[in-house]
Amino acid sequence: MILGKTLVSRKCSICHNLDRIFGASKNSQEWTSTVGRMAATMDDPDFLSEQEKEAIIAF
Ligand code: HEC
Repeated sequence: MILGKTLVSRKCSICHNLDRIFGASKNSQEWTSTVGRMAATMDDPDFLSEQEKEAIIAF
């Protein structure tokens, strides 16, 4: 199983502080759109797989 927290720490801290992520309160729908937007910002379709996105959202 892919660990959401590990993924977030590795992939999402490239551009901003992790406090910003762990401090945000969002429901799963909002996280889905945020994670999608971040992946688009990265401009790399392989940045996160669907499976990785789900692990992040679940976390
Ligand atoms: C390519 C750089 C980049 C990466 C990688 C990235 N972000 Fe962001 N993030 C940004 C920028 C730029 C902003 C501020 C502009 C904005 O809100 O769109 C931001 C803002 C945010 C915010 C605050 C705005 C909001 O909608 O609440 C959250 C939460 C967030 N990012 C979460 C994440 C998560 C989770 C990941 C990993 C899946 C991630 N970011 C990866 C660039 C990035």
